[in-house]
Amino acid sequence: MDKKTITIAGGGSGYTPGIILTVLEQGSQFPIKEIRLYDIDPIRNCDMGIILEYLLKRDGHDVNLVVTEDPKLAFSGTDFIFSQIRAGGMEMREYDEKIPLKYGLVGQETCGLGGFSYGMRSMKSFLEMVGYIQKYAPEAWILNYTNPESIVSESVRRQFPSIKIINACDMTIGIEEMLEHSFGYNRKKFISQYYGLNHFGWYREIYDVSKGKDIMPEIINKLIETGFDISIQDASWGQAFKLMESMIKDFPTNLPNNYLEYYLYGNRVVAHEDPNYTRANEIMDGRLTKIKETVAKIKENRDLDTIDYQGNGHGLYIVEIALSILHNKNDRFMLIVPNKGAIPNLRQDAVVEVPCYVNAKGAEPISLRQDIPDFHKGLMEAQVAAEKLLVDAFFEQSYQKALEAFTLNQTVPNVDVAKAILDEFIQVNGDYWVELKKEGSAVYELVNS
Ligand code: G6P
Ligand code: MN
Repeated sequence: MDKKTITIAGGGSGYTPGIILTVLEQGSQFPIKEIRLYDIDPIRNCDMGIILEYLLKRDGHDVNLVVTEDPKLAFSGTDFIFSQIRAGGMEMREYDEKIPLKYGLVGQETCGLGGFSYGMRSMKSFLEMVGYIQKYAPEAWILNYTNPESIVSESVRRQFPSIKIINACDMTIGIEEMLEHSFGYNRKKFISQYYGLNHFGWYREIYDVSKGKDIMPEIINKLIETGFDISIQDASWGQAFKLMESMIKDFPTNLPNNYLEYYLYGNRVVAHEDPNYTRANEIMDGRLTKIKETVAKIKENRDLDTIDYQGNGHGLYIVEIALSILHNKNDRFMLIVPNKGAIPNLRQDAVVEVPCYVNAKGAEPISLRQDIPDFHKGLMEAQVAAEKLLVDAFFEQSYQKALEAFTLNQTVPNVDVAKAILDEFIQVNGDYWVELKKEGSAVYELVNS
């Protein structure tokens, strides 16, 4: 196989070393000639360039490294783009989390109104980037895990319907790894049936090949009786998995995605949060500080043996998708794709998360061939409609549609609070959002003058 070029979009992210080292660990399965880091933030990109240059030399990899803020250089002739861009960085994530919390609502990067604020930023910068990719690398595959994924995927579906993109999320893998860790399963033996929207779904069956049966009922019993072993998680994620157990006790028919807790137990999530110190602060003090410290160690040539970046699970899930494309492997992943009948009783133009086979042609979704229950369908329909309204608001630059989206979001109790939070988000996001126009109110003022 000829050697490949890969581009990491959002190169300055703390996830970059793990992804790249995981790619390089694949050796001849994924031969690499050039790695490009692309980021609009030159300082963060250069910091990561310094770290990678060190790691590549340390591990003896003969690979060309390009660090650039120029989309033409980043994308021309590349084979894969791994996108993890985060428009506005952790600084804007902090607003996404803290503004709704001020009003007593869930403040989270991908769920609730924080997710909508982030969604408006992501659509703008992601679609701009896809435009560059279409121009400079129309044959390249985009492996996308830019959040919030349902909203981003819906906007791409509308503007670039034939672009080569795979939208993936690692959360189901994260849940399955917690099951492995807590109860000794091997998730490679699972054939999972799962349906939902991104960060908003349920397992229907977990068939364990080594046992020859569906083990989801057994898993649910274990979670009710003993719960997860959260010792490998940090405090925030430990809390998320604990709440997932509550969800299972209240609704024991299916294994849920943990992110549903933001919609079903918003009260508990809010009660547990510190409105002055949220996940964004934890990450700024953790992952981002680690980058700065690592750069300092390399520049000052000290404590090099304490640099602990390595290939990891997060990297592997995305690299395994690339391998399945490259080698036409037909491996199975949960991916975010247009519904088109995969979930028969849900609107066809929803973007859903379901199992898919991945091969040289991209993702081939697996149809459930069975209706989903009303409880899940009802929750999903409200969520799809709210997300679609937000995407409408973006393309039509419509304040009215944005207000409808915010009001319909299932974490929001009334229009007054939806409007207050929307107006604050418009203020703090500035040019990160498209301008929203209030055509409706302009007409109203005219009529009344
Ligand atoms: C999971 C989700 C991602 C999300 C991440 C946040 O992996 O699937 O979509 O970005 O968690 O983790 P963080 O450590 O940044 O809070
Ligand atoms: Mn995710």
